[in-house]
Amino acid sequence: MAIQRGRFITVEGGEGAGKSTHLSTMVDYLRAEGIDVISTREPGGTGVAEAIRELLLARRDESLDPLTELLLVFAARAQHVARVIRPALAVGRWVVCDRFTDASYAYQAAGRQMGPHPVTLLAGLVHPDLKPDLTLYLDVPTAQGLARARSRGRPDRFEEETDPFFDRVRQGYLDLAAAEPDRMKTVNAAGDLEYVRNKVLAALDVFLAQYRQGRA
Ligand code: TMP
Repeated sequence: MAIQRGRFITVEGGEGAGKSTHLSTMVDYLRAEGIDVISTREPGGTGVAEAIRELLLARRDESLDPLTELLLVFAARAQHVARVIRPALAVGRWVVCDRFTDASYAYQAAGRQMGPHPVTLLAGLVHPDLKPDLTLYLDVPTAQGLARARSRGRPDRFEEETDPFFDRVRQGYLDLAAAEPDRMKTVNAAGDLEYVRNKVLAALDVFLAQYRQGRA
């Protein structure tokens, strides 16, 4: 019998949206449902891609040109897709990933005001036939997310961006979710942890039901 490909689930959100907490809840939940799942993240997920992540997050005197930033993000993604995501999906494992190409539309296309074209071009090159089956977007007001993120210590190169940058990122995500409501589910992540956790698991349950009915 042919192996059924695994499903690809991504979690997105601005800074301080609580992605990592909810991502591990989702992975535990899927495992309890008997699903073979790995969790990973972008930028990163392999040794080389994690090294590129360090380049992207480090603050240095020389500012990073937006195009350099975009190319580094996609260089990390190419390695991650080739070495981790595709091989896992091919043997039927599910992949839950902290950020993917939606983040490039939100941060580079919208945040850096590069527009969608270069992101679409690189996505077509790096993963022409791969798209998340489900994306959960954790939405928090910019000020609330930033306060949470900045309380964690020294800000990285992205976290030290200005509020208007993060407002554009948030609007970028909201536009993506509005354009693809079947794939991308927005969860209001401004409430307390338990409330958000229940919303996240409810969205995952809908997807699991569709999957089991052969509809996802
Ligand atoms: P993190 O906050 O999820 O750890 O991600 C690190 C940073 O990388 C975050 O500030 C957003 C940024 N990023 C992009 O700018 N574009 C991308 O495509 C991805 C995956 C992340």
